[in-house]
Amino acid sequence: MPENGADTTNTVTCSAPVNIAVIKYWGKRDEELILPINSSLSVTLHQDQLKTTTSVCTSRLFEADRIWLNGKEEDINHPRLQSCLREIRRLARKRHSDEDSAALVHKVHICSVNNFPTAAGLASSAAGFACLVFALARALGVEGELTGVARQGSGSACRSLHGGFVQWIMGQRDDGKDSLAQQVAPESHWPQLRVLVLVASADRKPVGSTSGMQTSVQTSSLLKHRADRVVPGRMVAMMDAVSRRDFAAFAELTMKDSNQFHATCMDTFPPIFYLSQVSQRIISLVHRYNSYSRETRVAYTFDAGPNAVIFTLQQHVDEFAALVQHFFPPETNGGHFIQGLPVQPAAVSEDLKQSLGLEPMSRGLSYIISTKPGPGPRVVDDPTQCLLGSDGLPRQTA
Ligand code: DP6
Repeated sequence: MPENGADTTNTVTCSAPVNIAVIKYWGKRDEELILPINSSLSVTLHQDQLKTTTSVCTSRLFEADRIWLNGKEEDINHPRLQSCLREIRRLARKRHSDEDSAALVHKVHICSVNNFPTAAGLASSAAGFACLVFALARALGVEGELTGVARQGSGSACRSLHGGFVQWIMGQRDDGKDSLAQQVAPESHWPQLRVLVLVASADRKPVGSTSGMQTSVQTSSLLKHRADRVVPGRMVAMMDAVSRRDFAAFAELTMKDSNQFHATCMDTFPPIFYLSQVSQRIISLVHRYNSYSRETRVAYTFDAGPNAVIFTLQQHVDEFAALVQHFFPPETNGGHFIQGLPVQPAAVSEDLKQSLGLEPMSRGLSYIISTKPGPGPRVVDDPTQCLLGSDGLPRQTA
């Protein structure tokens, strides 16, 4: 083992990003190992705006493995949590078989928080499991490939172990050893690319992705067609669009793939509806704005909920954000409506507003997070950021 002796405690704190798929993962061929029916591709979002921070502590003094999420103790026996713990411990034993392995039998305390409201319905399980696996690996001295472990926490989590543009290759093997995530291009590859997360005011809890995709696999023939015949070509085209920084091609593929994912949800029996009225209006706004501009300036994508993630280029952020504010006027929190990277107020011409032919809809959006592609997980060296106190329990501030 590294520096920790047989009877000391060892604490590591790490942070990991959220990712948003532009070619969606939907459907498993193996529920236990979390093996997908198609490959997928995502953009990792910047941790300054959206991240999970996790502290992991091992100690001879701990009597049991324990976990706290956003200030509340959760059941450590959750099967996917157990898969990740078991896998990292197995890798640690393999790596340190001939060394003093006392710390490998130590129990672990895990404490994790998000820097964004969990209730906002932003994919927090991807950042959460990526961070858990990354921090556990550091604490137990495991190096190298971890995406195959994070995948077993939540499929999309494997993509959060890399920054920039990331593909999750579905793989062919039954044991899942070739179902891994790889970076396609780093975040620095496309500096002009910007992201706006439009957080819709949700009025109901949608069907979770795990059970939603199970029903889709069982009942949707469109999903099978998509996985077998559509996604392979789209993966190639998307990687090409990213490598050429071709925004129009990237945007069209992103929107089409989001739409096809939601079409497979509609083709699921009974059908699943993730898009709300607000989502549908954002779709109209994007298409009408692109057509008014006579070029593709903006793209949308939606996961298993009504929030829109908008991709655009730096030079269009201010105008598009002003349009969103015009058509979804904030009710009370006008001052904090746009959070994150600066967005400058922009004048929108009457001609543009009129031409879009949409009625403003108040209370539709709660707020906007302005961000960009960002790096993968990192170790947090600042000890004041550690979420566990010297007694191995969550600090009061956590
Ligand atoms: C619509 O990774 O949350 O966001 O593997 O069952 O944990 P499990 O599902 P999850 O599904 C994500 C689905 C999606 C598309 C995507 O991120 O690719």
